[in-house]
Amino acid sequence: MTGATTRRAGPEQLRSRIAAELERTRARTALLTEAVDEADLTRQHSPLMSPLVWDLAHVGNQEELWLVRDVGGREPVRRDIDDLYDAFKQPRRDRPTLPLLPPQEARAYLLTVRDKVLDLLDRVAFTERPLVADGFAFGMIVQHEQQHDETMLATHQLRAGPAVLHAPPPPEPTVRVDAEVLVPAGEFTMGTDTDPWALDNERPAHRVHLPAYAIDAAPVTNGRYREFIADGGYEDPRWWSPAGWQHRREAELVAPMHWRRDGDGWAYRRFGRWAPVRDDEPVVHVCYHEAQAYAAWAGRRLPTEAEWEKAARWDPVTGRSRRYPWGDDDPTAEHANLGQRHLWPAPVGAYPAGASPLGVHQLIGDVWEWTSTPFRGHPGFTAFPYREYSEVFFGDDHRVLRGGSFGTDRAACRGTFRNWDFPIRRQIFSGFRCARDARPEESQP
Ligand code: AVJ
Ligand code: FE
Repeated sequence: MTGATTRRAGPEQLRSRIAAELERTRARTALLTEAVDEADLTRQHSPLMSPLVWDLAHVGNQEELWLVRDVGGREPVRRDIDDLYDAFKQPRRDRPTLPLLPPQEARAYLLTVRDKVLDLLDRVAFTERPLVADGFAFGMIVQHEQQHDETMLATHQLRAGPAVLHAPPPPEPTVRVDAEVLVPAGEFTMGTDTDPWALDNERPAHRVHLPAYAIDAAPVTNGRYREFIADGGYEDPRWWSPAGWQHRREAELVAPMHWRRDGDGWAYRRFGRWAPVRDDEPVVHVCYHEAQAYAAWAGRRLPTEAEWEKAARWDPVTGRSRRYPWGDDDPTAEHANLGQRHLWPAPVGAYPAGASPLGVHQLIGDVWEWTSTPFRGHPGFTAFPYREYSEVFFGDDHRVLRGGSFGTDRAACRGTFRNWDFPIRRQIFSGFRCARDARPEESQP
């Protein structure tokens, strides 16, 4: 739903759009949790992840807490399970040992909550109260479920055993993409005040001045990343930060996650199927430290978060910041590889319609892109509606990732959307692109 559409829409259009988004999202949740049997749903496939059945009931519990109880002011459906599905009270490694709702009970719980929410949606007045203005709480709950759908997709990727998810391959390239793009020095608007479903950490809009820089016109590909491996990049501490080198040694990293040697080359496992690594696709399943080491080896660096956002949103003609690289319209299948339509990143050059005015490609979709920036609030940040979404994660421990992946839904991805994770994490669909400072002769206006 575009910001423009939401603001223009009357309450009846808003109601039907919210209903459609809730339904579309639940269909994905159902697909991800019906693809495996009960044993698979309740098992923990990796200590990094919850059992799928925890995500399932947690999604329903958040919907109950925010919509049924808070917005609707109605009686709790299951107050007794709140603690079980509170992510802060239950560390992931403990979740399989909890007395979780069995799959059928979890599904029934989600149906009961959803019935109440649809009833509430029929009557709710979208007043100026911040939680309900422009349907924000509903948008937040749609995005929350979509975020867990991406998490569940990452769990599927970690799951051993034969493939259960199927999707057509992403489109083939139709254009050649330049190596890098020069972004001139100057101010741009970062963040947003106007996107009605933007989350607290995307606000407020503020002006940021950046010196001239160059940024890769596409994410770093498997082909380039293999050169780093072949050149001994994983054995050379020169390229790694001290923390990165220590992690590289302790975790015995030798290649992206889900890769193995295959003759003279490499193969990767994607949702239960092995295939030879394809060189023109963005590399995925690398941690921040690997991205940083690659960039150093290539004589470059990771972009800052502001550099990523200026490349994605700044329109050199109007000076305005767009919602997306291509403009303000919602993503379609032509713009970006989003929404689990495909189960891996598209080769570079497959989405010319999604490029920014400066010619930067595949910023949205394909792979989450590591930036060098620790996750903090924008200047003037206020937590809304709860500190545990963003604020408790601010500090030096997490790095910001931008742009969404093939596993991210369009409702949970914008030019302003911010994700974050620990620099050692790579079970997420994470890749990167590189940047560099402009040379003095390039900085002349
Ligand atoms: C924004 C993806 C970092 O999944 O950990 C889900 C989103 N917050 N439930 C996460 C989230 C609460 C969050 N990330
Ligand atoms: Fe959650």
